[in-house]
Amino acid sequence: MFTQPIPTLRREAESLVILDQTLLPFRSETRALRTLDDVAEAIRVMRVRGAPLIGATAAFGVAIALVREGGADAVLDKALATLAATRPTAVNLHWALERMARVLRPLPAAARIDAAWAEAAAIRDDDAATCAASGAHGLTVLEAIAARRAGPVRVMTHCNAGWLATCGAGTALAPVYAARAHGIDVEVIVSETRPRNQGLLTAWELRAAGVALTLIADNAAGLLLAEGRVDVVITGADRVAANGDAANKVGTSLKALAAHAAGVPFYIAAPHSTLDFACADGGAIPIEDRGADEVCRIRGTDADGALTDLRLAPADTRVANPAFDVTAARFITGIITERGIAPADELARLYPEHAR
Ligand code: MRU
Repeated sequence: MFTQPIPTLRREAESLVILDQTLLPFRSETRALRTLDDVAEAIRVMRVRGAPLIGATAAFGVAIALVREGGADAVLDKALATLAATRPTAVNLHWALERMARVLRPLPAAARIDAAWAEAAAIRDDDAATCAASGAHGLTVLEAIAARRAGPVRVMTHCNAGWLATCGAGTALAPVYAARAHGIDVEVIVSETRPRNQGLLTAWELRAAGVALTLIADNAAGLLLAEGRVDVVITGADRVAANGDAANKVGTSLKALAAHAAGVPFYIAAPHSTLDFACADGGAIPIEDRGADEVCRIRGTDADGALTDLRLAPADTRVANPAFDVTAARFITGIITERGIAPADELARLYPEHAR
């Protein structure tokens, strides 16, 4: 199974040690989270990010709250409410908190702390196994392309849905890593993903893994797709509705539309924790609005390698910063899950326990 070069999170005594993604790709530093507020802040400001990783981090956040303040109902309720309020779109966060609540609520207060650590670890391990299984299914898509075309399989992705976003190999990038392990030549076209530039995280992790990549400005995706320079688009998701509409990082839906127009297959890789069968369609998915600063400023390094924030637009500029958008099911060729690949509007076939 894929081993993360640096664990995205790990328990150390009564704290959670995370890889601080706000410093990547410039610096690779870990940070210890010791309180509920530390964990909530880390999720809110995106020190940890990516739907599955947010869920697992929140689960450990519940354990941290209980170990510091005791297992009483009031402590549990506060931890669940505080963490649930950090980010709205990725349903994995709410899935993980509901799973923690289901396990912990029936227990006496004294038994909740150990149970919380154990359940958070189970959520982390479940995600790693899920990434591996989805990667094996996604591999079949890349194998089919490699079988009919000479040269590298050219995969376009958006945002970061690699190991940095999960507790395992990633969602959209798991098939890429699986293909590499099977000796298939793969090249990834990585869009920078303004405003937070998660594409730079994707470029960083692919480069470290020795996977060929081409970094593009987001606006270049349409041309590359139209010119036949992409074999397949694979992105992750933050919430997939019952009808197969999928929310992912803003800009994803434009890639799906351009891929549809160019006849390029467009896949979403989404684990079970991202599927929201209680949400009828994409219109019901809450879209996170983030601050103007993310659009008006940019982070990089100066000539001396020092981390620097630059202002791109005046602070009082009127800004819209929706962090996600929704791709309609009809533009999605298939959803890659740990149970197999299904057309977006037939997802329930893979999850009969959720059929209505
Ligand atoms: O705002 P982020 O960086 O947490 O958003 C992440 C994404 O949108 C990912 O594409 C998504 O979580 C994919 S699943 C790993």
